[in-house]
Amino acid sequence: MASNIIWHHHRVSRTERAACKQQRPCLIWFTGLSGSGKSTIANALDMALHQRGYHTFVLDGDNVRHGLNKDLGFSNEDRVENIRRIGEVSKLFTDAGLIVLSAFISPFASDRKLVRELMADGEFIEVHMDTPLATCEQRDAKGLYGKARAGEIKNFTGIDSPYEAPEQPEVRLDTSTTPVGECTEKLIGYLTRRGFISPPSSSGQSAHGASSWLM
Ligand code: ADX
Repeated sequence: MASNIIWHHHRVSRTERAACKQQRPCLIWFTGLSGSGKSTIANALDMALHQRGYHTFVLDGDNVRHGLNKDLGFSNEDRVENIRRIGEVSKLFTDAGLIVLSAFISPFASDRKLVRELMADGEFIEVHMDTPLATCEQRDAKGLYGKARAGEIKNFTGIDSPYEAPEQPEVRLDTSTTPVGECTEKLIGYLTRRGFISPPSSSGQSAHGASSWLM
């Protein structure tokens, strides 16, 4: 780290930014094999939260690797750096008051733990997309498993690069047996029980903004 760097405290606090958005920020971290449904479920949840009036943002591997992380490949070292940067960016976005949905393979437990430790207790919600490798490979939406099996891509997660499954994720989903809508409902249920979002009011309107945590 560079020397002579002093932390500058913002005059508007994290709590004030969140209060302005009338929501409680958190980081929903989707981890799992390529093709396990991370981006699909993250985007479905994003849409559901957005429709209820929450301010959200999705970060995902394929997109971030086009910009911020375009200098990184898929060696172990590069994957560690990929997740470190995404963790920091995710944290900044939650400091800005957003509910962040991050979808990265993030194959190493130690890297996910580092991101968890950046966040306050309870604000890191690890979602293990526990779809079997056979299903991911059968889907092969991007044709990458085929290339990996043919030896055209090296270090492909699940083929010749490891994936360390979370031992105690907050939520576990398997898109080979659970439809997208049901996965989204499970996550909405979790966020509601933990007080990150409000239950819909009986009139059917979003009760967003009425939660007691702001009091
Ligand atoms: S991570 O391992 O560093 O967390 P990340 O989620 O950013 O990976 O990127 C994964 C995406 O990159 C996959 O969905 C896939 O489309 C693409 N990809 C290209 N090469 C590889 C590879 N060797 N292993 C895994 N994914 C790869």
